[in-house]
Amino acid sequence: MARFDGKAALLTGAASGIGRAASIRLAAEGASVFGIDVDADGLEATAAAVRAAGGTMLTQTADVSSVPDCRRAAADCAAAFGRLDVLGNIAGVCWQEHFGDATEEGWDAMFGVNVKGPFFLAQAALPHLLESDGNIVNIASNTAIMGMAYTVAYGATKGAIALLTRALAMELIKTKVRVNAIAPGGVDTPMTRNFAMPDDADFDLIRPGISPRSMSTPEQIAALIAFVASDEAANIHGAVISADHGLTAG
Ligand SMILES: NC(=O)c1ccc[n+]([C@@H]2O[C@H](COP(=O)([O-])OP(=O)(O)OC[C@H]3O[C@@H](n4cnc5c(N)ncnc54)[C@H](O)[C@@H]3O)[C@@H](O)[C@H]2O)c1
Repeated sequence: MARFDGKAALLTGAASGIGRAASIRLAAEGASVFGIDVDADGLEATAAAVRAAGGTMLTQTADVSSVPDCRRAAADCAAAFGRLDVLGNIAGVCWQEHFGDATEEGWDAMFGVNVKGPFFLAQAALPHLLESDGNIVNIASNTAIMGMAYTVAYGATKGAIALLTRALAMELIKTKVRVNAIAPGGVDTPMTRNFAMPDDADFDLIRPGISPRSMSTPEQIAALIAFVASDEAANIHGAVISADHGLTAG
């Protein structure tokens, strides 16, 4: 028996990076994956990789910052597969800027994707997760644990995700639903490849956010998502688990 045989997973950000790797990993372990993203072409590429490996994946173009899109995705996943066992809130956006240059529009956009989406997807998925004794895996960041220059709004969203995880875990503690978060450090994905610090950024302020060890691979984070979402992690609830090559150890 594979760990996710007969189970269904709704994964956001499935078109790229960690979301793509998690889709491939969970499907390889037997899950029927329902992947959503704003990037339709990327979603199709992920689904093609899943299907080429013999897995099952449906896709839906959806914007997680839209509450109706969140509700539609949870309902359609449950309808398509007859159940919903795992919600992986993986989609995210990140950009670097001087604090003084941040705008209200940027703040709202970043919180829309990184916080509002996971909050309302969890709300939409919860009735199904209560039926399946399922679980939620949110993707936070090392920036939920340590301050990093030029990413004040992003760090605020990831700090919010860490406490959203713990608060929801407490509210659900008398159920069998588990809620956890993973806090990666740098991961080699398009997000990090597109990092663009302000031209006049002070490297002394950036250095503490870079591990002397290497970045993680998306597959390493996907493997941790699979473990946390599996029954092997039945005792893990309300945790924010670092996977950052020691970046936040000091
Ligand atoms: N890459 C890193 O170093 C790193 C480190 C810590 C945490 N994270 C977090 O990991 C998660 C995945 O990031 P990644 O590195 O795979 O990045 P990525 O850019 O490769 O993938 C992010 C995905 O989210 C999707 N997305 C963006 N806005 C969306 C929206 N409104 N609705 C639906 N989908 C949307 C994008 O289209 C993309 O497919 C993010 O939450 C990110 O903050 C990444």
